[in-house]
Amino acid sequence: MKITILTTALAMLCTASAAATNNNPPPSYGGGKCVSQQEGQNFLQKFIGVLGRTDPNYAATAQKIIADDFVEYSNSILSLQGLPLSAPLGIAAPFKDAWIQGVTQAPAFSGIKTLEVIVTCDRIVWYWVFTGIGSAKHPAAGFNLFHLKRKGPQLQVEKLFLEFDSIAWGLDTGIQVTYPNGTVLPPK
Ligand SMILES: *[C@@H]1O[C@H](CO)[C@@H](O)[C@H](O)[C@H]1NC(C)=O
Repeated sequence: MKITILTTALAMLCTASAAATNNNPPPSYGGGKCVSQQEGQNFLQKFIGVLGRTDPNYAATAQKIIADDFVEYSNSILSLQGLPLSAPLGIAAPFKDAWIQGVTQAPAFSGIKTLEVIVTCDRIVWYWVFTGIGSAKHPAAGFNLFHLKRKGPQLQVEKLFLEFDSIAWGLDTGIQVTYPNGTVLPPK
């Protein structure tokens, strides 16, 4: 009998972790049900509306979809800013308002194109290319990985991991790059 109970408990544990990609949230998700494809897509549309400021209420939307304990990690951003990088993760925005200020005060990004979206129980991967950064000479492609949580009915991003082609982004925004063979871009 005791062995049966133990076996059942173990089986349930295994089911719980295996089901993380199906219907049941992983233990780290903190309750609520898994994010559906539609919910994930809707969340991403809101996020893109904030990023591109095509949402007329982007500041209010940002307040809703960014979690209070939000942190953004991106060595691509730190390298663009000439700041020290950390392994494996550098913090680019340490809290919610830092991110909202950074995004809403920077020039709006245009030419945001979605290449692929993967929604799992508590995560979204967004593969993108922006064609309208600064001079818009170079397309910059990248990936966002969102760790999601629920606050009541509201889906929020708690951690955002973001890496992209920062050389292309930098060239578009006025950074000069010197290659090992001496070639300087943009040409002087
Ligand atoms: C120098 O390196 C850059 C970047 O890899 C390349 O585009 C360019 O053709 C190279 N120039 C010469 C002269 O090899």
